[in-house]
Amino acid sequence: MRDVAIVGVGCTEFGEMWDSSFRSLFIEAGVQALSDADIKGKHIDEIYIGNMSAGRFIAQEHVAALISDYSGMSELHVPATRVEAACASGGLALRQGYMAVASGISDTVVVGGVEKMTDVVSNQSIEILAAASDREWEAFYGATFPGLYAMIANRHIHEYGTKREQIAQVAVKNHYNATMNPKAQFQRAISIEKVLNATKVADPLTLFDSSPITDGAAALVLVPAEKAHQYTDTPVYIKGSGQASDTISLHDRRDICTIEATVEAAKTAYKMAGIQPSDVDVAEVHDCFTIAEILATEDLGFCEKGEGGKLIEEGKTELDGDIPINPSGGLKACGHPVGATGIKQAVEITTQLLGEAGDRQVDCETGLCHNVGGSGGTATVHILSREA
Ligand SMILES: CC(C)(COP(=O)(O)OP(=O)(O)OC[C@H]1O[C@@H](n2cnc3c(N)ncnc32)[C@H](O)[C@@H]1OP(=O)(O)O)[C@@H](O)C(=O)NCCC(=O)NCCS
Repeated sequence: MRDVAIVGVGCTEFGEMWDSSFRSLFIEAGVQALSDADIKGKHIDEIYIGNMSAGRFIAQEHVAALISDYSGMSELHVPATRVEAACASGGLALRQGYMAVASGISDTVVVGGVEKMTDVVSNQSIEILAAASDREWEAFYGATFPGLYAMIANRHIHEYGTKREQIAQVAVKNHYNATMNPKAQFQRAISIEKVLNATKVADPLTLFDSSPITDGAAALVLVPAEKAHQYTDTPVYIKGSGQASDTISLHDRRDICTIEATVEAAKTAYKMAGIQPSDVDVAEVHDCFTIAEILATEDLGFCEKGEGGKLIEEGKTELDGDIPINPSGGLKACGHPVGATGIKQAVEITTQLLGEAGDRQVDCETGLCHNVGGSGGTATVHILSREA
């Protein structure tokens, strides 16, 4: 197996992108990544695209071929593959691209993610997203993702005495981080009171505990590590890649306060990278709802189970804390175009490792990206480092 490096990154602005189409969003991110790596379309061996539901959001399927075509590569006949695992589609695309390069099948691979979610009205987007839960046993009975994560929040409060204010603190931190991210959907700070007093979405979660509906795309260029210096003086290496699955429905879980797919994917990634959770300097984790970040910090091993509330309350996950979490603003404030999120996380961690994150820069050598599909049916974890 070959080592793999990231040599180019690209990301659009996240938000309601009325002036951009699905295809133009991806092309914008892809062109940025290619020009960052200083390569042209003719050098690409393969493309993997994370996308959850273009068929329902914009009535377009067959999106990998579409993207290859509109990137001007139809005559090159480059293999282009769509990867779908709900909100973990981007993380999975990264892992597929990583495996294609690591195996020796392809040398230069573009991995990307894209979603255009705001062309449908709000209740339609919630319904489309709910298709990533168990249709027969959850969505059919009216469960939505805000509802499912609200159940997890209530259970965490009951089981571990987690305070409502601690959960709200996740939103406050991530909105603050996003004030320093020019690509973030929401670039304004909020207070705990604002989170607690906002419109209830699913008790106890409010509007500000929720990630938004977002348009956006992100892309990376991957090459074999031994060739990375042909493209850039500063490659970032993928040191570990883990993926795991679990029951798709919440009621079948042994413990709804633990995302076992995260635990298992992290175990694989840490082992491959030869590191412990304490070696991670910065992480982008899947905070689709505030409670999900608390779960992630526990399941990734940054604190004991049940201690996630305390970790955020003590400021340890802030930019200058022991383990800064979601410097981009996370899904909560940077935005969550579901198919693109896993790739955007890797763009942010690469940017951080290169010391190019501006005012939100943290001190780091090793970073982690954590992407979850649905309520935890799928999870991916990637470890990135400046060190080969
Ligand atoms: C929370 C949610 C229901 C809000 O949708 P909505 O009620 O239709 O909200 P609107 O689009 O009408 O926006 C109302 C206002 O709140 C803001 N807003 C919307 N969602 C927001 C969010 N998540 N955080 C902060 N502000 C938000 C909008 O910018 C708008 O502000 P404005 O009036 O100043 O322009 C929706 O964002 C949602 O479903 N989020 C969850 C997405 C999800 O489940 N993803 C998958 C996770 S597994």
